[in-house]
Amino acid sequence: MKLQSRYLSALFLPVLLSIVVHTHSASATSAVTASDLKPPELARAAEDFNTFCSVCHGSDAKGHGPVAKELKTPPADLTRISYRAGGSFPTEAVFKKVEGLDMPLAHGTSAMPIWGALFVRQAVGEGVLIEDARTAARVATDRIRRLVKYLETIQE
Ligand code: HEC
Repeated sequence: MKLQSRYLSALFLPVLLSIVVHTHSASATSAVTASDLKPPELARAAEDFNTFCSVCHGSDAKGHGPVAKELKTPPADLTRISYRAGGSFPTEAVFKKVEGLDMPLAHGTSAMPIWGALFVRQAVGEGVLIEDARTAARVATDRIRRLVKYLETIQE
């Protein structure tokens, strides 16, 4: 299979694993306000974007990352989300898309990886306490909120 490239093993295996780990805890806490990001937060979001997203969406977010041509479904141009939505940025829809936990796994998967589960897992680390899980869900949610806000700042 063509997709089983070095990209798949190096980057997407953890993501695929996290799909298996699939947790709903991140969607339970979404009370983060969509207030403007401070510069350091924006920098962290941009870093997350470069680490996790640019491989498919491209560093300019226009959908031409190095892996894009290997995908059956082309990655979306993320600078034109508002344009496609008729002019305003659909924050909640973008959050849900990136978090990925709403996706009906039984009905096949999207070409777009699920990030909520991965970010929760990274935040939990070794922790197993419910407090740790809650904190992890909040950290993951905040991280996705930041990313979504970042995407809003790059709309054309
Ligand atoms: C494995 C490749 C891949 C990676 C990595 C990836 N995406 Fe995607 N993404 C896609 C594909 C393919 C689509 C279009 C198909 C779909 O919507 O499911 C998409 C669609 C989207 C959409 C929907 C855009 C719209 O207007 O419909 C958003 C938002 C998005 N990605 C954000 C992200 C973010 C943020 C990251 C990093 C955390 C990321 N993506 C990482 C492949 C990827």
